[in-house]
Amino acid sequence: MQHDIDLAPFNTLALPGKAARYRRITEAVQLTDPALASEPRFVLGGGSNLVLTGDVERLVLHMAIPGRRLLREDADAVYVEAGAGENWHDFVQWTLAQGWPGLENLSLIPGTVGAAPVQNIGAYGLEVGERLFAVNAWDFEKKAFFAVDRENCRFSYRDSLFKQQGWHLDGRVAIASVVFRLPRAWQPNVAYADLQQELAGAGIAAPTPRQIADAVVAVRRRKLPDPAQLPNAGSFFQNPLVDRNRAEALKARYPALPSYAQPDGRVKLAAGWLIEQAGWKGKSLGPVGMYEKQALVLVNRGGACGVDVERTMAAVQAAVRERFAVDLVAEPVFL
Ligand code: EPU
Repeated sequence: MQHDIDLAPFNTLALPGKAARYRRITEAVQLTDPALASEPRFVLGGGSNLVLTGDVERLVLHMAIPGRRLLREDADAVYVEAGAGENWHDFVQWTLAQGWPGLENLSLIPGTVGAAPVQNIGAYGLEVGERLFAVNAWDFEKKAFFAVDRENCRFSYRDSLFKQQGWHLDGRVAIASVVFRLPRAWQPNVAYADLQQELAGAGIAAPTPRQIADAVVAVRRRKLPDPAQLPNAGSFFQNPLVDRNRAEALKARYPALPSYAQPDGRVKLAAGWLIEQAGWKGKSLGPVGMYEKQALVLVNRGGACGVDVERTMAAVQAAVRERFAVDLVAEPVFL
């Protein structure tokens, strides 16, 4: 157990805050320590989806369990397991190097393997839930490890079982490892417009998994700021899901509004477009603003604290609500 640990290096928005008590978890068995179950906890991964609003009273468990291995393989797929603390991008690159494609569209997403299923990370036409086989986690209340298979993870857009009340946010469970199922029958998934353009620009008609990964990395580097250079937490708001009537009314008024019909009948709107039209692209309030190349990304221009983030967030939400009557929901967790 460590005390008064500075959490600024452990959140990609680089917000200040100290953990009164902090413990680094490097082996799953450490989760079974009864001392951890007896007090309020927060389970921290890569800190890339986190708004730190100040000092943290709860015990911070920093998930750093390493390891990646081929679990088994059959005629249809390989099953790969990775520890919760593995860096997501490094893990994806490792699977590609082993000759196991399937995760290439999710290259360069910041964060850890253990955090990936919580909000069902997704980009460039793929969500992690589509490649996930099972999640292994510790339940601090039941004092037992348990496994959840894909069907029971209840994955949807930026959502899963793990986000249910009392679970991740309240530190009831900690994901120890994740098993992925990577089908042998690989097909390129290049329908996403940015990705298609990137490959076409490079003159690649039949891309390999590696080429798709490289294209995703190139697009991301161009559009999204590197947290090491300009602290941020990726997309700060979820793309809003509205019902079809509402989407049609908005489209009639704003024909350029990007919208994507969902299988459930709802329509996903591009929050970045709404924010840009509301005048917030590249605009700041104090030290916190919306990025000039991607209006959905909130950036800390230096020296911001949690309150500054909350202030800019509220101003952006108010501007979008006033102009479009759409409510934007923040993507990160607030601690
Ligand atoms: N757009 C604008 N102005 C902007 C930003 C975007 O008009 O400032 C328009 C774009 O022109 C495009 C549409 O909005 O027509 C969508 O933009 P983009 O393709 O950049 O993706 P996004 O919807 O803004 C989502 C994810 C990203 C993911 C990309 C690519 C969410 C909240 N965000 O962003 O995920 O990388 O798609 O798949 O779903 C993240 O969650 O942290 C993240 C980066």
